[in-house]
Amino acid sequence: MSGRTPLMAANWKMHFTVDEAVALVEELNRGITRFDDREVVVAPPFTALAEVASALADSPIRLAGQNCHWESQGAYTGEISPPMLRHLGCDYVIVGHSERRQYFGETDESVNRKILALLEVDLGSIFCIGETLEERQAGKTLDVLAKQLRGGLEGLDEEQAGKLVLAYEPVWAIGTGHTASPEQAQEAHAFVRDNLAKRFNNAVANHMRILYGGSVKPDNVDELMAQPDIDGALVGGASLKAASFTRIVDFEE
Ligand code: PGA
Repeated sequence: MSGRTPLMAANWKMHFTVDEAVALVEELNRGITRFDDREVVVAPPFTALAEVASALADSPIRLAGQNCHWESQGAYTGEISPPMLRHLGCDYVIVGHSERRQYFGETDESVNRKILALLEVDLGSIFCIGETLEERQAGKTLDVLAKQLRGGLEGLDEEQAGKLVLAYEPVWAIGTGHTASPEQAQEAHAFVRDNLAKRFNNAVANHMRILYGGSVKPDNVDELMAQPDIDGALVGGASLKAASFTRIVDFEE
């Protein structure tokens, strides 16, 4: 037993009006019963955070933002700051998602600034890393992960690192239906944990939850979660329907 509480996170991306988001979270609230031994997080779009937070007032389901800026306030039109998310009741923010890296110019450096800014207001990051198909085919997967970890975690001490959650999300598996095999995912997760042990220490590495993301579905979640270093899932497409996300949360060990 690892002693790490599994964390199952729904990333709704750019889906749902406020009413749709509230309806879905109410359905999840009724449908999910396994809260004793697992943590459940939903990341709605910014526009729905306040209403979803109200709907979750008496629920163990926790709230995450999908992104943030690294400054706490200022002339940054269109951006949302860590204190704003904290005041809305978020516990986590997804940082460095590959869609943000790919389409919105996110870099290891901006990821690092965001992680540090979130720590300032006591918010945990769900820090995403992962290789592209090209990088995997060129045999560079582990080098890419090492570089992303080095850049993203620059300047963090052991205590700060202890507040993070990592998500390994191979870019080629996101939204494509091509899940990494349990063995491919386990290999990457074990590498990440080893890297964390070297960078920080064994305690930090053993405590850190490393989620897998990329086409997680009801029919593959059990075999993924059976891997010793997979501590949860970051789920996109299959989190948009209550029945499939509820089944994912209810994974069988
Ligand atoms: P997916 O997305 O489950 O639709 O592949 C995962 C993610 O982007 O976090």
